[in-house]
Amino acid sequence: MPHTEVQSAIDPVDKTVLDSSPKLTDSYGRRFPYLRLSITDVCNFSCDYCLPDGYSSTQKKSFLNGLEISNLVKAFADMGTEKIRLTGGEPSLRKDFSQIIASIAKTPGILQVATTTNGYKLKENIKEWVDAGLTHLNVSVDSLDPNLFHSLTGHNRLKEILSGIDYALTLSIKKIKLNAVLLKEINSHQFKQFADYIRERKISIRFIELMQTGDNFDYYKKHHVSAQILKNFLLSNGWTEKLREKSAGPAIEYVHPDYQGSFGVIAPYSKDFCDTCNRLRVSSTGDFHLCLFGEKGYSLRHLLQKPDQKDELKKLIVDSLRNKRKQHFLHDLDTGITPNLSFIGG
Ligand code: 5AD
Ligand code: SF4
Repeated sequence: MPHTEVQSAIDPVDKTVLDSSPKLTDSYGRRFPYLRLSITDVCNFSCDYCLPDGYSSTQKKSFLNGLEISNLVKAFADMGTEKIRLTGGEPSLRKDFSQIIASIAKTPGILQVATTTNGYKLKENIKEWVDAGLTHLNVSVDSLDPNLFHSLTGHNRLKEILSGIDYALTLSIKKIKLNAVLLKEINSHQFKQFADYIRERKISIRFIELMQTGDNFDYYKKHHVSAQILKNFLLSNGWTEKLREKSAGPAIEYVHPDYQGSFGVIAPYSKDFCDTCNRLRVSSTGDFHLCLFGEKGYSLRHLLQKPDQKDELKKLIVDSLRNKRKQHFLHDLDTGITPNLSFIGG
């Protein structure tokens, strides 16, 4: 490179130009390198705590299209977003799922493309997603008992899903996680089964405390249990808490010298949970949500139509972010507007 170009790359004037994008920081000093983007709220499973009667919609919604998604991701990436997680509903029900992954993966600044899936047809599709640029995979598996899995999700597919995960382990994915919602008297006595599963598999199993949503009050009352029960199991079986990295997000990880995999505990009802919040959300219809249980979304869709709206879009995002609250109010039984998590993707 000629000397003059090197000079201009470090020239303070040019640097201002490079840094001119606003950054995603809130009033409490939290940074947001992580965006969870829902691309559909349709789901083909009917998990008891989420969509017990299956998905139904009174009016047909129009979800963000490929161009809108690409414009959105470019704006976020300009402001420091490095990781995008595609969620749903079930994101892989989108026919253009692989194209969406590919377009996000090639956006400058994006280092990680993740998805959370129920694993339906995982084995058939995972290679294509990885080839498109998927780097991180989360699969929801609430029980390793096939009958229980069937009754919880409405699908007798545990075996296929687990074989999809084993296949995924052979591909070049950076990290594979299993998500399980902790459910009293349902899977809260099955920790040993999960531990056995990760003895030889480099997988992190993350138990999430059941959260109350607008729709699941009775179920929540019956099956919510504190994650302390899992922590007790782990500590009395030789697992130790891993030191948290500053950017680690809300899970507390536990490791064990005899196990390749790890456990993660996500306890949204614990004190200070929100202090480490590093994520923002956009719904499948383009509403910007500051919290899973935020009170309202800010519609971005009118600014996702053309690439030249990017500056205006970034301004709207940054202005909205000023309203992010310090913490959720779940303790006061305030669930915001979230009827169930298929709505903005968990
Ligand atoms: N509480 C906790 N986790 C939930 N999920 C869905 N609904 C709830 C809830 N009420 C989880 C799913 C999936 C992720 C997208 O969110 O199990 O792993
Ligand atoms: Fe579908 Fe996920 Fe809700 Fe289960 S938890 S019904 S897989 S959106």
